[in-house]
Amino acid sequence: MGGDTKMEQKKTVAERMAKLVRKGKLTAQNADLHWLYEKSVQNAEVEVEFINEVYEKTFGRKPVSLREDFCGTANLCAEWIKLDDFKTALGVDYDEPTLQWGRENNLAPLGDRASGITLVRDDVRNVRSPQTDVLAATNFSWWGFKTRDELAGYLRNCHASLKDEGMMMMDCYGGPEAQIPQEEEREQDGFDYIWDQDTFNPITNEITCYIDFNFEDGSKMKKAFSYDWRLWSLPETCDVLKECGFSRAVIYWEGTDEDGEPDGEFQPSLEGDLAPAWVAYILAFK
Ligand SMILES: C[S@@+](CC[C@H](N)C(=O)[O-])C[C@H]1O[C@@H](n2cnc3c(N)ncnc32)[C@H](O)[C@@H]1O
Repeated sequence: MGGDTKMEQKKTVAERMAKLVRKGKLTAQNADLHWLYEKSVQNAEVEVEFINEVYEKTFGRKPVSLREDFCGTANLCAEWIKLDDFKTALGVDYDEPTLQWGRENNLAPLGDRASGITLVRDDVRNVRSPQTDVLAATNFSWWGFKTRDELAGYLRNCHASLKDEGMMMMDCYGGPEAQIPQEEEREQDGFDYIWDQDTFNPITNEITCYIDFNFEDGSKMKKAFSYDWRLWSLPETCDVLKECGFSRAVIYWEGTDEDGEPDGEFQPSLEGDLAPAWVAYILAFK
């Protein structure tokens, strides 16, 4: 018994979670919060490829350094490092326990290559160096800046934190459904992910959302993550980026397949389709 428990403790979080899923025994009591988040919300492998490709097309060379703002578990940093031997990454987040989870679960498995990643515990607005080729602010975390002054303060700092051939990547979502309180459920391996769009105020564009997780045994993790945001639109964000010194901001809009469903391919676009809900990337250049 005791031996078994010790062996379980030696396994990585990913191994422990995979075993629980295989046995159909993942519950609200034994599931790891950050593992659930990464499995259901992030697609870091695809995002680093996208960033690399857009940068190379723009500047005719591969980018070396990436800064991940609001990095949380530094998943994007870890995937970035895997692309090329010469790549480096800087992750910034003010939450030490989340950074520590990232060190243990995303950096440690990289072995020696983990030395290419630096994690800084601070407010993203306080960090300006070292300057990087790319700065990424993903999963809408920049929506925590609710006033134009606050957002501009952040983006000015981003501009100063980039090298001359610098590129900022942000994501954004919208469409009529983004303004309607509703729950969207998605089945994952071993659990259900629920995006709970709880309130929307059309006067301020403030939005509160939660992530819940439900498990096969009926147990639930309610409000596992909470978000208190302003829903920023694409044109106003591009205006603020330009005011903050960026020379241009380009919207990458997602294409659709033959059934009209989003196909995961993002292309520079001047006109979007009237999707009820969409996710787009903003690429801004220094
Ligand atoms: C939604 S998570 C994003 C995690 C990850 N980057 C992703 O793409 O899924 C938001 C993270 O931003 C951090 N955060 C929010 N505001 C911040 C700020 N002003 N400075 C530094 N970190 C911040 C939180 O601690 C949290 O880890």
